[in-house]
Amino acid sequence: MNKTLIVANWKSNMTKSEAKSWFEEFSSFEFPQNIQALILPPFTLLDFVSSFVSGHSLSFKLGAQNISQFDQGAYTGEIAASQIKEFAEYVLIGHSERRQNFGETTEVIKHKMEKALADSLIPIVCISNFDEARSFEFAKSAILVYEPPSAISTNSLGKPEDPEIVRDFAEKFTATFQNSLIYGGSVNSENIKSYLGIPGISGALVGSESLLASSFSDIIKNA
Ligand code: PGA
Repeated sequence: MNKTLIVANWKSNMTKSEAKSWFEEFSSFEFPQNIQALILPPFTLLDFVSSFVSGHSLSFKLGAQNISQFDQGAYTGEIAASQIKEFAEYVLIGHSERRQNFGETTEVIKHKMEKALADSLIPIVCISNFDEARSFEFAKSAILVYEPPSAISTNSLGKPEDPEIVRDFAEKFTATFQNSLIYGGSVNSENIKSYLGIPGISGALVGSESLLASSFSDIIKNA
């Protein structure tokens, strides 16, 4: 069975003690059989989260929020695919916040995808429109996120995308690409069903509503 993927993007949030409390709230949580939860913590917490999740047999998968476009070497401040691979299976690439705030271009995103694939990480690539999607060739394993920046809750005037627009996007996307597609942007426990009900949408990327364990578990319950 292909499980619905519910991804928590913690962004630049959470300390170790906060992450510990967050996971403790999941200690007796019954995950529905059809859901796979995936956590994207900041790099500083990958080691801790990976040990905590396996030590407590919690059914979360783990990914990084970014990856270097280079291999290990003289690139101060960068984290290479081989270093991520020690802790995680997935990596988020090309989030609009990285494009806007850190100048990531299509070329950089392509390099990052190559590096992820070379170390057998599964790339989760954010795209904001269909033309952007068409500027890439995606490996079979890549998961795509349709996430218009205007739908991100922390952007000014950010509001959830109209499910009908997501439906149109998914229709075009699935006619052209074979990859799994998920939706991101202001997802919460109230609106999750309206996105997951769209043919071709097999999960969600959740930012703000993933920071509290209670709101993230409500999204999983309603998915
Ligand atoms: P949001 O963030 O759920 O707070 O809108 C989603 C994202 O930016 O990945």
